[in-house]
Amino acid sequence: MVPKHEGEVGSRMKFRGKEMIVWSLNNYIGLANHPEVRKTDGESATRWGLGTPMGARMMSGQTNQHELLEQQLAEFEKKEDAYLLNFGYQGMVSIIETLVSRHDVIVYDAESHACIIDGLRLHFGKRFVFAHNDMESLEKQLQRAAKLVEKTGGGILVITEGVFGMSGDLGKLDEIVALKEKYNFRILCDDAHGFGTMGTTGAGVSEHLGVMDGIDLYFGTFAKAMAGIGGFVAGPEPIINYLRYNMRSQIFAKSLPMPMVEGSLKRLELLRTKPELREKLWTIVNALQNGLRERGFDIGNTNSPVTPIFMKGSVPEATNVILDLRENYNIFCSIVVYPVVPKDVILFRLIPTAMHTLEDVEITLNAFSEVKEKLAAGKYAGDRVRMA
Ligand SMILES: Cc1ncc(COP(=O)(O)O)c(C=O)c1O
Repeated sequence: MVPKHEGEVGSRMKFRGKEMIVWSLNNYIGLANHPEVRKTDGESATRWGLGTPMGARMMSGQTNQHELLEQQLAEFEKKEDAYLLNFGYQGMVSIIETLVSRHDVIVYDAESHACIIDGLRLHFGKRFVFAHNDMESLEKQLQRAAKLVEKTGGGILVITEGVFGMSGDLGKLDEIVALKEKYNFRILCDDAHGFGTMGTTGAGVSEHLGVMDGIDLYFGTFAKAMAGIGGFVAGPEPIINYLRYNMRSQIFAKSLPMPMVEGSLKRLELLRTKPELREKLWTIVNALQNGLRERGFDIGNTNSPVTPIFMKGSVPEATNVILDLRENYNIFCSIVVYPVVPKDVILFRLIPTAMHTLEDVEITLNAFSEVKEKLAAGKYAGDRVRMA
């Protein structure tokens, strides 16, 4: 059954009629309900409706606002140009399909998001996977790829992520960029979770790791820190222009509605001019992650707001824990179980936001301490799902 939340986006929402502390929304810096965002969204919808502009960008869907947003995104990411995408997922699939030919080789991280994996499926040439964040493995695959492109005359595209969305660890962008000294390749980085949350100005993991220049193509979505919909890709002007005139998902689809574009301009302005939103996010991230570590929880290698909690248990146990958290502690978070993680592992995934309070954190830490003890004592055991 798909969970349904009620009420405005916030740290507390209703689930099945009861108020819960919600840890599963990517509203990282709290823009979903920011009064200025709500005002701009509303005014823009009143002025233009949701239909404007009609048509694809290349036909009749171009506006000054679309171009302005692209300019501002490019400037923020310190790139020559940027191109808007109607959806992050579909955009990434289409970017990959457009960028490579059968002569090119893609080398990608094994834990890449579904949008990267699905983009690879449209690639007619070779693709080599490297073990997650394993630079030795990457180098091996680069050597294989280099040999191959010597014959085909193609190029190598390395694809990885800024923040890995399940485990919260960062792609080793600095080490990957350093390999450009030895191998000839370009990098496409999906920074869906890093855009707006990481780096001194919020420009993402490439900024955080000091390698903005080394990332050839930077991909971000508006669906997370920007609390909207759509996305963008930024990079050198000739490549972005090539995408602009060749990306099937954009050429053959209607352009982003005006309220989303004007709303994104407002969101970007707030993201750039209100660092206090990101500081508040990190206060909550640090309180949650330090609290969990102090209480002996395994939160893996996260270096980002994404907060995984790993516990040992079966799939029915995981379901019983999550039910207990919802029914008796009023805490809503996502879980990931087998086959995404090994059979006996339960991954609870918490997304802290600037909307959460330190009180929300304290309540949650206490709840997790209690359910951890119950899990270890076998209180959730059995094949059947039941309430604790
Ligand atoms: C790493 C990553 N890439 C891409 C996407 C897709 O973005 P969108 O929701 O804008 O389609 C997501 C969203 O789940 C994501 O986590």
